[in-house]
Amino acid sequence: MRMLRQRNVSPRNVSPTNIHKDFPILFSEEQIRERTREIGRQIDADYAGQTVVMVGVLKGAAIFLSDLARSVSVDCTFDFVAVSSYGKGQRTSGAVKLIKDLDQPIEGKNLIIVEDILDTGLTLSFLRSLFERHKPKSLRIAALLDKPSRRLEKIDADYVGFEIPNHFVVGYGMDYAERFRNVPDIRLMPPDYPELH
Ligand code: IMP
Repeated sequence: MRMLRQRNVSPRNVSPTNIHKDFPILFSEEQIRERTREIGRQIDADYAGQTVVMVGVLKGAAIFLSDLARSVSVDCTFDFVAVSSYGKGQRTSGAVKLIKDLDQPIEGKNLIIVEDILDTGLTLSFLRSLFERHKPKSLRIAALLDKPSRRLEKIDADYVGFEIPNHFVVGYGMDYAERFRNVPDIRLMPPDYPELH
């Protein structure tokens, strides 16, 4: 079966798996690990003796959440939501829609929304007001990256990994047309990179 599938693969439908190697590294695995541990220590101090629900925003924050959750020692559970995505290219459409809701009630809980990038702020403003209606005990935001120069909504993260300029990045969960999420470091996407399908 496997042999047959392999024989059917033609150069046209083989994905360029190593293409990201040409993209410059913005933050190495080591830098991300170190910063995530620091944020974890901060969360431990802020929530000592309490329970926290980390709510990851799919799919971009999945990898950050899994590392951040392992960097804290406070009692912690997970939940995930999904919102309408950034689209295929490097631009957002502006509209945010909930695609997958929380599985568990959050009333009276300490919530930390975990996001890959705080960019225009549209996603996190939407989620924050949505969750506030459910009356959590507290609500904070952890964003691995923050692009303050792109902000359209007035919103800040309580925990920020790194502040970056207005540049499109991929890797460590972040994608371009669903690619490069599994790249272990964070890389700068060349602005003239062709549209992927
Ligand atoms: P916002 O609603 O504009 O703040 O956008 C948040 C979402 O846009 C993030 O969760 C990412 O999925 C996506 N996004 C923003 N900037 C980038 C980027 O540089 N690379 C990949 N995704 C990005």
